[in-house]
Parts: sequence; C-alpha cells; structure tokens
Amino acid sequence: MKRVGVLGSGVVGTVLSNGFLKHGYSVRRGSRSPEKFDEWLEAAGPHASGGTFDDAAGFGDLVVLAVNGTSAIEVLGALSPGVLDDKVVIDTTNPVLAEAPDNGVIRYSSNINHSLMETLQAARPEARFVKAFSCVGSAFMVNPDFPGGPPTMFICGNSGAAREQVSRILREFGWEVEDVGLAESARGIEPLAMLYCIPGIREHRWNHAFKLLKTND
Ligand SMILES: NC(=O)c1ccc[n+]([C@@H]2O[C@H](COP(=O)([O-])OP(=O)(O)OC[C@H]3O[C@@H](n4cnc5c(N)ncnc54)[C@H](OP(=O)(O)O)[C@@H]3O)[C@@H](O)[C@H]2O)c1
Repeated sequence: MKRVGVLGSGVVGTVLSNGFLKHGYSVRRGSRSPEKFDEWLEAAGPHASGGTFDDAAGFGDLVVLAVNGTSAIEVLGALSPGVLDDKVVIDTTNPVLAEAPDNGVIRYSSNINHSLMETLQAARPEARFVKAFSCVGSAFMVNPDFPGGPPTMFICGNSGAAREQVSRILREFGWEVEDVGLAESARGIEPLAMLYCIPGIREHRWNHAFKLLKTND
C-alpha cells in the first residue's frame, strides 16, 4: 500500500488525509501535539495513524506539507536529516500573514518575485517539492463536483517526475492539471489563493474553483 505522511493538524491536513485514505493510501499525520489526532483516528480506519511531524515525514513515501505557511520553514527545519531524502513533497501552503486583510485581500509574507515554495525547496534541497492544492478551499480539494466539469489545479516544481506523480494523484482526486513548470512558477500560483479568498472574505462566497479554458489549437 502506498504510504503518505501528512504534516498538519488543520482542515487541509484532515481533508487530504481523508482523501488519500478514500483512494486506498495509508496515511500518518504529524503535529507538534499528536493527541490532536485522537478524535480523527476514531473514525479514520485501520490505515490511519498519527505522530510527530518527524514520524509522519519518515512514514511517507510521499509527504504532504499542510502547515501554516509562515511556520513551514520552521517545521521543515526541525525534521531529522535524511527523513525527506528524494521524497516528493506536495506543498499546499500559502505565506498568509496573521494580519487583517485589506478590503478582502489577505496579506502575504512573500515577495511577488520570490515564492514561499522556492524558499522551502532551497531549505530542503534533498526533497522534490510540488506546489498543489494551494489555490482552492479545503471543501473542494478531493473530488470537487462543479457543473462545468473538473476544475484546474495549477502545479509546479523542479522535478518533472515529481510533477507527473502529483498530476496522477490530482487526476485520481478529480482534477484537471495544469503543469506550469519549475519552482519559480509558484510566484504565479501562490497569489491565486489571494484571488480565491476575495469573494469569500468580502461576500461570504466560497463556492468556486479556478478553471483554465483553452482553444483546441
Ligand atoms: N484552509 C484552506 O482552505 C486552505 C486552502 C488552500 C491552502 N491552504 C494552506 O494550507 C496550509 C494549511 O492550512 P490549514 O487551514 O489546514 O491549517 P493552518 O491553521 O494554516 O495550519 C495548521 C498547522 O500549522 C502548524 N503550525 C502552526 N503554527 C506553527 C508553529 N509556530 N510551528 C510549527 N507548526 C505550526 C500546526 O501545527 P500543530 O499541529 O503542531 O498545531 C498545524 O499542523 C496553510 O499554509 C494554508 O495557507 C489552506
């Protein structure tokens, strides 16, 4: 059975862990306080487990990073050496600051010419980061059901093989995939979450996802 380590006790960690379990993976979640998973584990079934961030990262053949964006570098930095060696890390994070939005626009710690994922990739060069799931609300991350057909997930990362692996997972999870290339492209993907949140914060509308339309040529 394929093994996934999910770093994160928040809603994204829960939704993606349940999604991986639903699709036949075995999942170990990580937190600074593993007892946070006690309730989830009661219903999650025999292929689910919980532990520290290190336990989860070590368990997974594939790792999902689903922690607060401004803490992500600290979480990665605290992992044991070797625990991420050559692993694909799905990076769901956005560098959202804990500050009030400006007329519905959330604030980021990153610069438009340097993304959070580039910083994370530089900090753990032994892992292969792929940005994914970052530009949609957690309610739609797994098998989203929209009248216009599957929405588009934008992904990027420096390893083509890692992007291909994550693309297969996304298709399994009901997404159309737009692979936009190397890690620098996260400069374009991460701000999509800002755009995504504006209707939600301003008008309490959270019922959307992005779709890329194309002509046939
Ligand atoms: N919520 C959404 O719909 C959504 C959609 C797309 C992308 N995202 C992105 O996905 C990520 C996860 O979002 P979320 O809403 O599930 O949860 P979150 O509240 O942003 O993050 C929760 C996780 O961050 C960890 N964390 C927080 N502060 C920490 C610190 N100082 N040191 C170490 N770890 C710390 C927590 O660790 P402990 O378990 O130890 O408490 C927990 O596992 C975020 O980067 C967010 O921007 C969210």
